Amino acid sequence: MEHPVPNVAVVVGAHGVIGRNLVDHLIQLGTWEVIGLSRRGGASAGRLRHIAVDLLDESDVRAKLGELDGATHIFYAAYQDRPSWAELVQPNLAMLVNAVTAVEAVAAGLRHVSLMQGYKVYGAHLGPFKTPAREDDPGHMPPEFNVDQQAWLEARQIGKSWTWSALRPSVVCGYALGNPMNLAMVIAVYAAISRELGLPLRFPGRPGAYHSLLEMTDADLLARATVWAATEPACANQAFNINNGDLFRWSELWPAIAGWFGLEAAAPLPMSLDEVMSDKEPVWNAMVERHGLIPTSYREVSSWRFGDFVFGWDYDVIADGSKARRFGFHDFVDTKAMFFGIFEDLRARRVIP
Ligand SMILES: NC(=O)c1ccc[n+]([C@@H]2O[C@H](COP(=O)([O-])OP(=O)(O)OC[C@H]3O[C@@H](n4cnc5c(N)ncnc54)[C@H](OP(=O)(O)O)[C@@H]3O)[C@@H](O)[C@H]2O)c1
Repeated sequence: MEHPVPNVAVVVGAHGVIGRNLVDHLIQLGTWEVIGLSRRGGASAGRLRHIAVDLLDESDVRAKLGELDGATHIFYAAYQDRPSWAELVQPNLAMLVNAVTAVEAVAAGLRHVSLMQGYKVYGAHLGPFKTPAREDDPGHMPPEFNVDQQAWLEARQIGKSWTWSALRPSVVCGYALGNPMNLAMVIAVYAAISRELGLPLRFPGRPGAYHSLLEMTDADLLARATVWAATEPACANQAFNINNGDLFRWSELWPAIAGWFGLEAAAPLPMSLDEVMSDKEPVWNAMVERHGLIPTSYREVSSWRFGDFVFGWDYDVIADGSKARRFGFHDFVDTKAMFFGIFEDLRARRVIP
């Protein structure tokens, strides 16, 4: 007879670069039942069930989430993209409020709500910010949706039997299709197209960005940290920076990435990927055909605007990861090996040649 599964996770944003890797990790642990929420939904199998729901539509949320009375943990990693920092606030706060309110209303056994954040909490998106950023650094001028989400969650938790945690990763790298923030995919598709066109690999960012100090967060490492923070009692009502644990500069890593793709790294040339890659859809479609790749649309593999954003950081983007270590999370990932592993995975899945 199968043993009862003690934990029931509701992963909000189950197809994101963060959410889908978290779902995989929870399933692998074997002690979780997982309910994944997204608009697109998906096929349910074993201990994983997908629910298609539009979190911006309150009545849809009430109708679809009203049955989740067994939920013990909410892992919130949904995201709505918008063209400006100010416009991000309303939809992203509304989705969190709608999801948590609906589950909390029916799940008497709710124990924890995990919130996925990022370095925007520290103003990393605005310009050179204080580094390494620490979890207790003072706030900055709003609007910033991660800050509003945490403020709402903290206020909501007061007097409740559940606790919260917040995770603050750097740029997250892992497998996902069709999402707006996917740096590993940006690099992989840019390199594959460069190769197809017989070009060397040129760093397209700002001159200063080639030499600034950065760090990344592997999506699997982040999944492990997220579950740790949600289940370790000492982490209750705490925020944690989560990064791979090593630092790098593109000036060192870029030539190695070029080498992985069998390319020479030529001198950097600042350019907007959003502009120069906008006419490459026919090249991509021809590559899919010629190399027998799985049919992915150019839209699904393009997050060029995010590439321009990250390659525009001509200042250090690093946060102190020692709080998580002090609280007991000691995992780390080698960033170069992480990139190569993701590229290998994309090749094995026949997404890139
Ligand atoms: N990606 C990064 O590098 C990175 C780095 C640091 C922090 N973060 C933060 O982590 C969080 C998650 O980011 P992500 O990159 O994983 O996002 P993502 O890849 O864009 O995934 C977003 C998820 O939310 C779902 N979703 C969007 N709108 C929805 C709606 N109206 N109703 C239901 N589901 C909806 C999407 O599925 P459907 O499209 O099917 O609805 C998808 O599963 C964000 O707060 C982001 O700022 C991301």
